[in-house]
Amino acid sequence: MTDSIKFWAVVPAAGVGKRMNADRPKQYLELAGKTVLEHTLTRLLQAEVFAAISVAVSEEDPYWPVCQLSHHEKIITAAGGKERADSVLSALKAIRADAADNDWVLVHDAARPCLTSTDIHQLIESLVDDEVGGILALSSHDTLKNVQNGCIVGTLDRTHIWRALTPQMFRYGMLKSALQAAEGNPAITDEASALELQGLQPKIVEGRPDNIKITRPEDLALAQFYLEQQQ
Ligand code: CTP
Ligand code: MG
Repeated sequence: MTDSIKFWAVVPAAGVGKRMNADRPKQYLELAGKTVLEHTLTRLLQAEVFAAISVAVSEEDPYWPVCQLSHHEKIITAAGGKERADSVLSALKAIRADAADNDWVLVHDAARPCLTSTDIHQLIESLVDDEVGGILALSSHDTLKNVQNGCIVGTLDRTHIWRALTPQMFRYGMLKSALQAAEGNPAITDEASALELQGLQPKIVEGRPDNIKITRPEDLALAQFYLEQQQ
């Protein structure tokens, strides 16, 4: 590892949490005494590897300015965008004066508060000498069906199917140009897909199953259970 290479974290936190159907965006729901976003940022800070954490929040967000962590010396605020990819690009631009093209960026969903240091370090150790980078992922336990109009038209070969998690780790320059090239493309639902569009093949690193994304109401109780288990 070259000593001068830095690691940055980018946290897209500008979503509205439609599927959560709560009175506020899901990153501000309370979970074991803190907001979901505070858990997520604390986990990233505790890894002690990041030069800074760039957080993309909505410009109308009333919760972020009153969150203590928004004033943390290692936390930078960026404006969120229309889609997740726009928020990530904005957070990358917010660190452009200090980040070098070769630096590594780990993009992590605000809605994944159960991330462990083990997973962060595993991802970094596996990919630090890689050209392209990669993502945490989980193999699928269920048999997967291709369905059209309510009927099964095929069974997918599960051995080739992985579920993409975050963090996703890429070089600053490559990630920024891949996201810029893909701007407005609705198929870009994670960072890896933007690099895939460039003809690159990001690697997968097996992640832990407790790194869930809070998406629906029942996920909050599950996240609480995992946080307790991790203590
Ligand atoms: N996100 C973002 N900017 C957007 C949309 C999403 O920063 N324009 C962030 C969310 O805050 C979340 C992460 O991207 O941390 C993953 O997105 P998702 O789980 O889909 O969150 P939401 O878009 O908020 O939820 P929903 O799709 O149910 O509305
Ligand atoms: Mg969404």
